[in-house]
Amino acid sequence: MATIYYTGCSLDGFIATPDHSLDWLMSRDIDGGADMGFDTFAPRVGACAMGASTWQWLLDHDPEGWTPKPTWVFTHRDFAESDQVRFTSADVAQVHAELVREAGDKDVWLVGGGDLVGQFHDAGLLDEVWVQYAPVTLGAGAPVLPRHVELSLDEVTRNRDFMCGRYTVVR
Ligand SMILES: NC(=O)c1ccc[n+]([C@@H]2O[C@H](COP(=O)([O-])OP(=O)(O)OC[C@H]3O[C@@H](n4cnc5c(N)ncnc54)[C@H](OP(=O)(O)O)[C@@H]3O)[C@@H](O)[C@H]2O)c1
Repeated sequence: MATIYYTGCSLDGFIATPDHSLDWLMSRDIDGGADMGFDTFAPRVGACAMGASTWQWLLDHDPEGWTPKPTWVFTHRDFAESDQVRFTSADVAQVHAELVREAGDKDVWLVGGGDLVGQFHDAGLLDEVWVQYAPVTLGAGAPVLPRHVELSLDEVTRNRDFMCGRYTVVR
């Protein structure tokens, strides 16, 4: 299994606008059945981790759409309880051990945001980055991965409007 950051991204490196809009992403057809499309990626996932803003976006926009994989949400806020979701402010390494245990022989999906993924990278726990680049620039917003991370490019493909890259973290 691997710990994978899978995300959609603007061409200039943002995963959301400054006001957390994903309209530029969700308005496009992102499930083209390509090798790196979400339909292909999702069955590999056994457990997920995300930050509070990402969870808030799901609550606001897609409460029924979230596939109920066991999910850890990093936060200091008081969110309402949700099936299969655990809220934590524990050390990422400690939570990662729980994610791996829960995922079994499947992968761990780091959903975002970028700084949380960076925290996993800081702890040496990020294995792969899969990015779906949308044909748009945003100019500002939430950065995809605000760290210096060395990557090796393993695969490139096209998924409808998206240019997809799969990278391995170089340690
Ligand atoms: N394009 C895509 O595919 C994609 C993918 C994922 C996310 N997104 C979007 O990107 C944006 C990301 O927002 P964001 O940059 O604010 O990141 P985020 O990770 O979603 O949320 C950041 C918040 O998570 C909490 N947090 C982070 N690390 C923590 C830790 N170690 N312990 C406890 N709490 C921690 C903090 O919230 P508190 O301390 O306030 O609780 C922090 O302010 C969202 O709008 C999301 O919807 C887009």
